[in-house]
Amino acid sequence: MTDKYAVIGNPIVHSQSPRIHAMFARQTGQDMTYEAMLAPLDDFNATVRSFIQAGGCGANVTVPFKEEARHLATRLSARARVAGASNTLLFDAEGIFGDNTDGVGLLRDVHQNLGHNIAGIRVLLIGAGGAARGVILPLLLERPVQLVIANRSAQKAQMLASQLVSAMADLPAETDSGPPLPAPTSCGLNELAGECFDLVINATSTGLADKPLDIPDSVFAPGCLAYEMMYGRQTPFMAQAHSAKAQVSDGLGMLVEQAAEAFFLWRGVQPDTLPVLKALRGT
Ligand code: ATR
Repeated sequence: MTDKYAVIGNPIVHSQSPRIHAMFARQTGQDMTYEAMLAPLDDFNATVRSFIQAGGCGANVTVPFKEEARHLATRLSARARVAGASNTLLFDAEGIFGDNTDGVGLLRDVHQNLGHNIAGIRVLLIGAGGAARGVILPLLLERPVQLVIANRSAQKAQMLASQLVSAMADLPAETDSGPPLPAPTSCGLNELAGECFDLVINATSTGLADKPLDIPDSVFAPGCLAYEMMYGRQTPFMAQAHSAKAQVSDGLGMLVEQAAEAFFLWRGVQPDTLPVLKALRGT
């Protein structure tokens, strides 16, 4: 019996996930299918249930259902709990396990593909919405020397930082057993003058609207990596980082790496992401 997987979202037609998982499956010799599935905006749950009935073994979940997926899960990983969202579901005899592989995807791209270690560096995470929340715990667990969450609305950044601090207090021992974690701090975008960072991540939705971010060029320290979580176009954030002489990356590598972590959860095999990333970039 071929095992069935899917990515569920709305819209879903432009999803790259079926192509990525097909390449992973071919590369690792896994007998599985992976399809794109459109769920009605008001009936994500029914779509998941009927996929399980039809023999589905797991699913990726994308916009706008990641929060609903977290609520549908009967068990959650710590990273999905802190993210408040789940992008990966595993269906088994015990029910639905919800995980979130976005943060690990970001870290692997930054570390393995782009060559930057997060331990000991100064990190600026811009944004305090779902995208920022999805990556914040894994980012902190890497132990940067400083993690600043900056957002247009400083209050939302502060809320996210304090939610993270409470979540850290409740972390299960197996999630983290290292030295004490740095305390995240927060500020408004207008409070960044005079600050500089080694890794600057844009987790806002400004790229979608082609809007520039109101941040000073001085946030990009010499040798800085500027990481745009969106992919598929050069955003104003990327253009600014370029002109400030930062190394610049879009989020395509994160997409491939978060998929690889989901694949590992389902199949117990770690695929080789580099050829897949190259194929997607057409290089
Ligand atoms: P997502 O799930 O993609 O993170 P979201 O939860 O709506 O989407 O969050 C959007 C993020 O982009 C927020 O951090 C938002 O800042 P505010 O909380 O101040 O609204 C940020 N954002 C959107 N447009 C922006 C702009 N023009 N300048 C700066 N930040 C912006």
